[in-house]
This record gives sequence, structure tokens and C-alpha cells, in this order.
Amino acid sequence: MGRLIIISNRLPFSIDKTGEGLIVRQSSGGLVSALKSFFERRGTDSFANQYSEEIWVGSVDSTEEDWRSAEAEGLIDADFIIEPIFPPPALYNGYYTGFSNSAIWPLFHYFPTLVEYKKEYFEAYLKVNQLFADKIASIYEPGDVIWVHDYQLMLLPNMLRQRMPEASIGFFLHIPFPSYEIFRLMPSDWKRALLEGLLGADLVGFHTYDYVQHFVQSAKMIVKVESQFNTIYYNNRVVKADQFPIGIDYEKFRDASLDETVVGISSALEEKFYDQKILFSVDRLDYTKGLEHRLESFEIFLALYPEWRERVVFILNVIPSRDSIPTYNERRKLIEERVSTINGKYSTLQWQPLIYRYNHLSFDELCALYQVADVALITPLRDGMNLVAKEYIASCIDKGVLILSELTGAASELNEALIVNPTDTTEVANAINQALIMPLMEQRSRLSYMQRRLAEYDVLRWLKDFLEQLSASKKDQDALRI
Ligand code: G6P
Repeated sequence: MGRLIIISNRLPFSIDKTGEGLIVRQSSGGLVSALKSFFERRGTDSFANQYSEEIWVGSVDSTEEDWRSAEAEGLIDADFIIEPIFPPPALYNGYYTGFSNSAIWPLFHYFPTLVEYKKEYFEAYLKVNQLFADKIASIYEPGDVIWVHDYQLMLLPNMLRQRMPEASIGFFLHIPFPSYEIFRLMPSDWKRALLEGLLGADLVGFHTYDYVQHFVQSAKMIVKVESQFNTIYYNNRVVKADQFPIGIDYEKFRDASLDETVVGISSALEEKFYDQKILFSVDRLDYTKGLEHRLESFEIFLALYPEWRERVVFILNVIPSRDSIPTYNERRKLIEERVSTINGKYSTLQWQPLIYRYNHLSFDELCALYQVADVALITPLRDGMNLVAKEYIASCIDKGVLILSELTGAASELNEALIVNPTDTTEVANAINQALIMPLMEQRSRLSYMQRRLAEYDVLRWLKDFLEQLSASKKDQDALRI
């Protein structure tokens, strides 16, 4: 029985140094939830029992000294073995702030004008991917299954393939893969290296069918690979590309409606806004999330539908993110100015249209907000999937309307939402009105279709589908060698 080695840029922990000592938080992202539900089923599900151990390799946003102290104090509590990596800060900066988030991220989200093509960024990216490869090579044992995650580590599958030709290697991209015409904007050597990096895997997974097609086309045009549908022939190996739309831990969000703390927070919110409908959104502060367009849409809505003034409140929660990068920091100012303008223009002595928070939300607060929100306004300009849309649907009990951007991966699964183009701010304003006047029967019917789908294709199913197909791809690969 082999082990499962998960690799992502970040380990799912953050360490804060406070006056009272170190505080360790386990993050609750999609991948962590998937693995948690997987581990919980270890005893009962044969699939979950198939690995002898699970190991998670990733970097930590603290010093090695703090990490070791937290370990020694027993603050790091996980169901899996942790293998931390500590890249030197300057190198990490070139890799993370630089190539990952100032080149790949904007380009893959269709913001080519924000891309910074700097040689030193690519070199740092290469070196940090190499550090990950060294770490994995030092722990790898024959029979292990290796699963690499996301755009920060696109060179890694090929680096591992060079050192471990027989290994079973999967890769999953959590962001969009752009169309060839966008991808080709990247300098030749780098775009070739990224594609060859991914082609080191046996299976490359994406959220949607479109992203799969974009990847295969780029591989054909740039690396000149042969392909048949989603199967690529490269260097005497077979590489499969396929879609695996990530789900959520459906039960966790559905059951939160029964949790005492969550009910306490949601009751207080309902009492406070008893005479108003609640619009809600939550996103990391990122230019891809379309926050300025969303605010403009809300302003147009207030102008076009004056009957809703004093009868609706928009709770806009923005989560701090990547604030060392100027394009992120500048955004914050623009958003806050816009919020003030709208509140200044439309507030009355008794009412304020926008409640803006720039902070992290606890899981209980998040679930309470999902439950009380009459409408969730989720309008990114581009998003690989968008799990907030899915979490909202899972949390709705007997009411709720989702307004969702057509430029998210989630839109291809959540057809019963009100699908909008976020750049058409009048269309979004009209959709807000449509959502607010939608009869309850219609809300419930739309919700139940989406809820059934999300309950079936949950995060555990995503994890299983990927790993099962990885195992099948490996068998095809071995058959080819015979
Ligand atoms: C997206 C990416 C993840 C990333 C997350 C948070 O979801 O796909 O890889 O971890 O954003 O961004 P950060 O830069 O804070 O890790």
C-alpha cells in the first residue's frame, strides 16, 4: 500500500505571533475540507483506506524557528504528516509575489495588461519549484501517489518525472487555463516550460471542459504534441487531461443551520435587519472578483429602483489578500472610495445601503450570513470555480437567490442561478431587482435543483474521481511500457 503525497504552495496552517505567544490556525479551504472528509471516512470507506499514510508538503508563512516552536508546543494538530518547506524570503518573494501572482495569475485570469514579465521572477519560480522537487525526492518511496496542486507549482510534475520516471503523478489547476491566444502572450521559453512542466504528470485536472480544451490546444500549438481528444502523447508517455469540477463539503454547510452559535448570530442579524432584505457577498480582495463593477451595479440598482431604498442592505465582506502586491493594495482604496460615495449619496438618518467589512470572517459568521442573505451577489470578472457560490446554495434553508457571473467555472454547474455578465452593470442591477421580487416557490425550486447536484458532487467525490482516474492513467502508462 503506497502513501498519498499532497503538494501545494501553502500548508493549510498559518502562524501568528502575538503578545500571548504563537497562535496556529488551520485554514478551511477546499482542499483541506476534501482531505478532512476523506480522513473521517478512513474506517468506513474502502477508498479512504487505500493509502498507508497521507503526507502534505507545502511552505509556511512564518519562520522556521516559529514553526519548530509551534510544533514543540504541540500546536500543530493534523490528521496527516506535515513536511514543511522554508524557501529563503527573497527567493519566495520572486516566486510568490513575482512570477505566480504578477505573471501567471493575471494572465490566466485574462488581465494581460497587469502581467509583469521579469526574468528574475521566472528564475525564482524555477528555484522554488526545484526546492519542492528536492523535498519530495527525499521522501518519495516507490508506490507513493503524488498529487501537485495549482499554478504556483506548474514546473514540478516534470521535475519529479525526471527524477522518478515510474512515479504516479497527478496535477490539478485550481484557476482557469486561458485560451491559446492569451496563453501565447507569455515569453516562449516560459510558456513552453510551464506546459512541459504539466506534461510530466500522468493526469492533469481542470475545473471545466473549456480549460481542458485550452490546455490541450496550447500543448499542441506550442509543444507540438500529438493528441486524441483529451489524451496527449508526449515523450513516449500518455498524459490525460480531464475536467474535475471541485465541490464543497456539502453536509458541513447544510448542517451549520442547526448549530447553536450560527443560529445565535443569524437570529441577531435577522432582528437587526427585520425590515430589510439582505444582499451579501464575500471575496478575497482581488481584481478578478469584479468588486468595482459590483459596486457600480448596486449604485445603478438604487437609482433605477428607488422603491428599494431603505428596504435593502448590501453586506459586502472583503477578505485581505496578497497586500504586498501594489495592484491589490491600490484596489482597496478604490473600493473604499466607492463604498463611501454610495453611502454618502443614498444614506438617510435611519438607513445605510452598504455595510462594508475588510476583514476575515469566522466560519460561524460566514454560515450565519449565508443563511440570512436573501440574495448572494457573486460577480467575478473571472474565476476558476468560485466555491462561495456553492457554499451559499448549500446553506440556504427555505429562501435565497444566487446571482452569478457567467465568467466563473461554477456557472457551468449552477444553471438555475440568475446568470449575469458582470461588466454589464445594468443587467446586474436588473438581476438584483428580479432576485428581490422572485416568489418564494420559484426560489425554492431553483435551490433544490442546485442543492441536489452539489450534495452529489461534493468535495469528497471530486477527490475520489481524480485519484481513481490517476490510478487508471498510471495503469495505461504501465501497459504502454510493456
Ligand atoms: C486561490 C488559489 C490558491 C490560493 C488562494 C489564496 O484560490 O487557487 O492556490 O492559495 O487563492 O491565495 P494566497 O495567495 O493567499 O495563497
